[in-house]
Amino acid sequence: MPEPRCPVAHFDHHSAEHAENHVAIYRKLREEAPVAWTEAHGGYWVISAYKALFDASRDDDLFSSGRHDEYGGPGLSVTIPKAPTAFHIPIELDPPAFRPYRRAVNQVTAPAAVENLDAVIKHYVTGFLDTIIEGGAADLAIVASVPAAVTIDWLGLDPSEYQNYVDAMHTLVSAAPGSPEYTHAAEVAVPWVSKTVREHIAHRRQHPADDATTHFINVEVDGRKMDDDEIYSILELVISGGVGTTASLVTQSLVWLFQNPGERQRLIDDPSMVDVAVEEFLRVFSPTQALARTIMEDTEFHGCPVRKGDRALLSWASANRDAEQFENPDTVDITRWPNRHVAFGLGIHRCAGSHLGKAMAREMIRQVLRRMGDYVVDMDNAVSYPDQGTNAGFHSLPVTFTPGARELGDTPLFAEHYTKTGS
Ligand code: HEM
Repeated sequence: MPEPRCPVAHFDHHSAEHAENHVAIYRKLREEAPVAWTEAHGGYWVISAYKALFDASRDDDLFSSGRHDEYGGPGLSVTIPKAPTAFHIPIELDPPAFRPYRRAVNQVTAPAAVENLDAVIKHYVTGFLDTIIEGGAADLAIVASVPAAVTIDWLGLDPSEYQNYVDAMHTLVSAAPGSPEYTHAAEVAVPWVSKTVREHIAHRRQHPADDATTHFINVEVDGRKMDDDEIYSILELVISGGVGTTASLVTQSLVWLFQNPGERQRLIDDPSMVDVAVEEFLRVFSPTQALARTIMEDTEFHGCPVRKGDRALLSWASANRDAEQFENPDTVDITRWPNRHVAFGLGIHRCAGSHLGKAMAREMIRQVLRRMGDYVVDMDNAVSYPDQGTNAGFHSLPVTFTPGARELGDTPLFAEHYTKTGS
């Protein structure tokens, strides 16, 4: 008979009820049980208050990110239930093993490195908007293609195949576990990614190029080069981290700007305000809603009896609306500053791609506002992710707008930016 946990809450971040009402559900939890136990998915702790989340995400000894298949079954340690992905470096490592890998990732995701990607980001935003700009009616979720194409291009993979990566990595965190889409991602799309990326690593060993994959082949970790499994592990994580999150941020922001035309006009009139506004969109929309840890010791945490092997969900989304940390937390203030949101997480695992994600989001929002700033969203036919437990956002955003002109000219969307694997 398992030992009882308390306090017990009725909570399931993958439920339809949660997808519909997660802001209210988290508010109630913060007020009534900021650290609570739920029996869903085999049982886990939900950490919803900012202070508790801060303490948990900075205590890597008690709240391990490591892969512990013996607790909660096999799979990705940072989701509940565990997603069927390869072992992901560095997100599934604890210190000290974590540090040299994270240093290797930082070298290609630091602000200076991301500045080098400005032209690539602009290219894809311009090009994808070109595909819809003349029509005056489109699915604005096309912006979701940009982070996928940029990430794939940055790794030196074939960006024209970006949709396959979305189908694989993004679906695992936006579809309900057990749904046909989720099963397809796990059984078909992820194996395709695995095969393609592994072939790419082998190819780049023979044919180095100016891309992030070549960086990971050459960089030293603890005084040695990485093997194919380690490199694959990093690339799969970067793809899964890079593909869906920024799209989730931008689709939610564009809906909010449609619903708040005065604020939209302010950003159209002064695009320099977009940088600060994006921080607020990160706070209120928290694209990555919550991720998990495994408890490594029998002890008490914020008054609760946590036990070795217990799983815990850290809700960045909930902490981002904690009134003890943010004034008027449910008000979207596009000038809010300072804005110490935790949309990118907290502690040593804080998002390695935050600069890239923000650079892409700013360019997408600026271009949409400049080129189709009068867009009207058909909210009756907008489709949000059926599961908003890990990632929140929209699959489909039908819009109408005043048609405009293409801007890429004769430059093809894909052809010039990659060397196809095997070539
Ligand atoms: C708006 C966009 C994004 C959001 C909201 C976001 C969110 C997050 C969060 C919350 C974490 C913390 C994970 C944890 O503590 O367990 C994380 C980690 C990570 N993200 Fe992002 N992410 C975004 C964009 C990106 C992009 C574009 C990349 C691609 C380079 C990326 C790559 C990573 C990696 C590699 C980690 C693991 C870092 C580590 O374990 O040290 N992310 N992200």
